Amino acid sequence: MNEEQRLQGQQIKGLKPLKPVKEKDYSQFFQSTPSLKDAKKRGKEDIQYRDDFKIDERFANMGASRKFYIRTYGCQMNEHDTEVMAGIFEQLGYEATDDVKEANVILLNTCAIRENAENRVFGELGHFKPLKLHNPDLLIGVCGCMSQEEAVVNKILKTYDQVDMVFGTHNIHRLPEILNEAYLSKETVIDVWSKEGDIIENLPKVRKGQTKAWVNIMYGCDKFCTYCIVPYTRGKERSRLPEDIIQEVRELAAQGYKEITLLGQNVNAYGKDIENRQYGLGELMDELRKIDIPRIRFTTSHPRDFDDYLIEVLAKKGNLVEHIHLPVQSGSSQMLKIMARKYNRETYLELVRKIRQAIPDVALTTDIIVGFPNETEEQFEETLSLYREVGFEMAFTYVYSPREGTPAAKMMDNVPLEVKKERLQRLNEVVGEYCGKAMKQFEGQVVEVLVEGESKRNANVLAGYTRKNKLVNFVAPREVIGQLVHVRITEAKTYSLTGEFIEVVTGHEVNN
Ligand code: SAH
Ligand code: SF4
Ligand code: F3S
Repeated sequence: MNEEQRLQGQQIKGLKPLKPVKEKDYSQFFQSTPSLKDAKKRGKEDIQYRDDFKIDERFANMGASRKFYIRTYGCQMNEHDTEVMAGIFEQLGYEATDDVKEANVILLNTCAIRENAENRVFGELGHFKPLKLHNPDLLIGVCGCMSQEEAVVNKILKTYDQVDMVFGTHNIHRLPEILNEAYLSKETVIDVWSKEGDIIENLPKVRKGQTKAWVNIMYGCDKFCTYCIVPYTRGKERSRLPEDIIQEVRELAAQGYKEITLLGQNVNAYGKDIENRQYGLGELMDELRKIDIPRIRFTTSHPRDFDDYLIEVLAKKGNLVEHIHLPVQSGSSQMLKIMARKYNRETYLELVRKIRQAIPDVALTTDIIVGFPNETEEQFEETLSLYREVGFEMAFTYVYSPREGTPAAKMMDNVPLEVKKERLQRLNEVVGEYCGKAMKQFEGQVVEVLVEGESKRNANVLAGYTRKNKLVNFVAPREVIGQLVHVRITEAKTYSLTGEFIEVVTGHEVNN
């Protein structure tokens, strides 16, 4: 869609159909509603890099005496988008609040990865409805990955009239225009682009913390694993230019941030779309390694594109941490084939062997889906045996959830939900066992912890993470929050460590 067509869409999108229409016909009235079919297309057109974001003078006062509240669901990508939207709100003069009752704008930044993620959002929208009675100025918006699905947009239009605006993942930079429309229009404003737009480098950000920061290195995903909605909700793979990333990390280091997490759905594909350059994640990490910041991580890795050069660079350590999250999804080669993961059990194990050879003390963690359509007991047991063989230190485990529009959702499935749930429980027992074992090794050791704040359960206890991403609780003066400290581990629990504070770290070379 070109700019002109999109603007036409803007003009008519506020209109609600006058006569009742069938659910799926809504799209004819709104040019900027999503289409998963269009989102699937992968064009050759070049991505433009821009730095021309600015707030139009007309909107300069929009946020005066108004407050915004954003609730974020889903992955780090969404968390980071929330930071960008918070930045835009503040440039518009809005103030942040964490009390929905005080808010003049409530945004739900949603996740579409599994059905229960979506159900939570619909439940929450129900809770927000009464707030409108007390505050007629209140705007409620839905953004993020769910907005990219036409079924969701139709459901909102049909059932949730408390929603004033819906916009997607590709146009958060248009938040000022969308808010303006929503203030003027009595009807729901829908502005969702099915195709990704340009990369805009100068969007404002209000980061959530002062210790750890997210840095996008690429957007989108072209892998199309058969169960996954992300390639539809986030568009094609687009890499930021290395110089822009390096600049951002340098600035964060200068501002005193201690840890950077590089973000992408498939970070190992970084750089493949940048023409005329032989530059990948390995090259990028090798440059970031030289920046004076204690820790750099990345997520999420796809085993398929994990190359030898990256392993070689990661083995240089320094600020590159010895923790790799490497989602395997299943231990059965047949399942992996149907999932279209494009690696098999053997090639995954071979990659693990290579990584371990280069980085012997690496901590490996993973994601696993159980109960993919027609998964047999034997195939599930292959997942358990692979888990033991690799000895993952932690895993995020999920029951497969069919996502409308993906190939797997059309597959017949002979595995009852009860069996899937029972498999998840069996897997989680193994996860707990191996996590506990990994934790036990730290008893008596001194580890480097980046202190994040008070522990969730006890304000007198501080909490932070090691380079291998282990949670450590310990008692120490509050002044050490935001700093790297040494802690002696006194007790390993299944999912966390308890220790005694020793000292603030002056250099940062410790490898644990
Ligand atoms: N890009 C990342 C994954 C992002 S989604 C990667 O490829 O590793 C995070 C995790 O959610 C996935 O690794 C997968 O385990 C899980 N997931 C994705 N789609 C799912 C679905 N339809 N049902 C259940 N779990 C799913
Ligand atoms: Fe989804 Fe696969 Fe892309 Fe990960 S790599 S986001 S699982 S399609
Ligand atoms: Fe969810 Fe979208 Fe992230 S579907 S996991 S928020 S990319």
